[in-house]
Amino acid sequence: GARTVTAVRGRLVWFCDDPFLVGTGAAMRHEKDGLLICVDGRIAYSGPYQDGIGRVPEGVKVVDYRHCVITPGFVDSHVHYTQVGMVASYGEKLINWLDKFVYPEGMKYSDKKYAEEGAELFCKELLRNGTTTALVFTSTYPHSVDVLFDRAAKYGMRIAAGKVLMDRNAPEALLDRSVEEAMEQTRGLIDKWHNKAGTRNVYAVMPRFPLACTRDMLTEAGRLWEEYPSVLMHSHIAENADEVFEGRKLFPECRTYLDVLDDHGLLRAGTVLAHGVHLTLGELDTCHRTGAAIAHCPTSNLFLGSGLFRLRDATTPSRPVTVGLATDVGGGTSLSMLTTMNEAYKVGALDGNPIDAVRLFYLATLGSARAMRMDHQIGSLQRGHEADFVVLDPRATPLLEKRTRTGDGSIEDVLFALALLGDAEAVEATYVAGRRVHQRGRKEEKATW
Ligand code: GUN
Ligand code: ZN
Repeated sequence: GARTVTAVRGRLVWFCDDPFLVGTGAAMRHEKDGLLICVDGRIAYSGPYQDGIGRVPEGVKVVDYRHCVITPGFVDSHVHYTQVGMVASYGEKLINWLDKFVYPEGMKYSDKKYAEEGAELFCKELLRNGTTTALVFTSTYPHSVDVLFDRAAKYGMRIAAGKVLMDRNAPEALLDRSVEEAMEQTRGLIDKWHNKAGTRNVYAVMPRFPLACTRDMLTEAGRLWEEYPSVLMHSHIAENADEVFEGRKLFPECRTYLDVLDDHGLLRAGTVLAHGVHLTLGELDTCHRTGAAIAHCPTSNLFLGSGLFRLRDATTPSRPVTVGLATDVGGGTSLSMLTTMNEAYKVGALDGNPIDAVRLFYLATLGSARAMRMDHQIGSLQRGHEADFVVLDPRATPLLEKRTRTGDGSIEDVLFALALLGDAEAVEATYVAGRRVHQRGRKEEKATW
């Protein structure tokens, strides 16, 4: 059939490498007057407007975003769609908060209709916030995965998700009835959804965290993952000091808390661990050695009083750990990756390590994509990548407008102002696979592909 072509003009920023390792100059690409041409969902050209304009086919209108910054769509490397109904629940630390708010809400997802509503709201909210890919926790019920993948396919988004595995220390109705059944359901979902033609869905094996899983569950999860090396493995680790203490008691045979996962074959490239606040330097070594990545969840770690993730220790160039940025809603308090960058900056500041805008945007795009082993597909505006991008408006609010007009105009300064002052309001438009799926102020984009 005919090719689908879209073209946009604006200030382009993306990353081709890790600025924590190679520095800003070698890692960042910046095109002040740039052009992006998308053909059939992929980026066919990204570079200077003048050099590229001749390649835009006749009849294709170039959308003018010259006053905006265009970056790869944000990649949220850890978030719970099933927690959109209980986000911002007052006053508890992790374990009590799980019992009081998370698990009761999770049980509501046994109702398919309720799950569908949650999935629809979640996907729309991601797009309104400029997030085009996420690694998503669901509930234990297989249909809670079905409805999410179904919605993601509707919007054409690249989403990774999986059924939660948990067989202890939570209400009976939320637990897997047996390890065998949990594995059978997981296999069924992988066959049904993983890299399914016509979708961009990716499966992730999801043991909730060591406190909610028996040895048998972790063993079988590790075995199953070995059979499907292209799926991801996603869990929580060392978020909270009490969690680590309880985990050490439940698995006294493991040398460290992180070794609970390693000993069950759950640490390698493709593993994404949420939080990692209380990992020791030795455990960070293990992440580096195995290729396991960490999702940094600053708004959540502050909201639940979990602690301050030591990004500098994780990214130290002598043994770097792959790190992505994540909202962790509903432990996190915002689905905006800009707001999340803001909080990551402050967490760094408290640690004597304020993170510059370039590194914040890296973590929210290519960093998270690398954590999810998707950096060859998303997280970049490099030619050949999937055309997921976000258009950010430095004049979105009076304060942003004033601030960016008063600043020095450098891309570093504009990005920093957007990260610290922006949220969904700063998202002018969101594109998925070359199609605009969100336009600020408009009710809903018509699906016209
Ligand atoms: N640890 C285990 N489950 C959860 C969860 O749902 N949210 C957070 N923040 N931590 C967890
Ligand atoms: Zn979480």
